[in-house]
Amino acid sequence: MGKVTEIKHPLISHKLSMIRDKNTGAKNFRELVEEVSMLMAYEATRDLQTKEVEIETPICKTKCCVLAGKKVAVVPILRAGLGMVNGIINLIPAAKIGHIGLYRDEETLKPVEYFCKLPQDIAQRDVIVVDPMLATGGSAADAITLLKKRGASKIRLMCLIASPDGINTVKEMHPDIDIYIASIDEKLNEHGYIVPGLGDAGDRLFGTK
Ligand code: PRP
Ligand code: URA
Repeated sequence: MGKVTEIKHPLISHKLSMIRDKNTGAKNFRELVEEVSMLMAYEATRDLQTKEVEIETPICKTKCCVLAGKKVAVVPILRAGLGMVNGIINLIPAAKIGHIGLYRDEETLKPVEYFCKLPQDIAQRDVIVVDPMLATGGSAADAITLLKKRGASKIRLMCLIASPDGINTVKEMHPDIDIYIASIDEKLNEHGYIVPGLGDAGDRLFGTK
């Protein structure tokens, strides 16, 4: 059974408050999303497996731990998920990056797929799906379904802000997935936006509105 973790940390709370602020411009918004993603990745990768290796320091031989077995793939849900990628690959430079393009139909709020390009060995990788917003949960749930169809089995989801509905949708469709969130907000409004949220993540990242 997957777990839901709301990552509580003073630095994350502080930066998330600045991200939410409507007066924060695109440059700062992008930098802050990257920074929070890096802080979250530290927590979301806590259970990656390690193995013991022997190395030699300038002083002597010693045994240390390095990441073991499967490697990591980061899969942003386009567009807004792109804003979280750099923060994670700065920590895990060997990670490969897949892309899943989904947009929410404005009327139905249902996700529409328009792009999917994944690392060939996705089935062998620990996959971190990233998207700043988990609103109705439709986009994240569909992205995870797609990844499972391509053979991925070890998948975790990392979002900055989630609604309780969004979490429930993903948990119902994918009970095996671990979900990491910086803040679980109050609710969705009548347009499917998270309240209080941060507005439209894609538009704020890319300045499209
Ligand atoms: C936003 C967001 C998520 C989705 C969340 O993307 O980045 O992908 O909405 O909503 P849901 O949980 O109700 O599916 P959007 O569809 O606006 O596309 P964009 O990133 O290209 O702006
Ligand atoms: N997508 C966003 O960018 N923001 C929301 O609040 C909901 C969906």
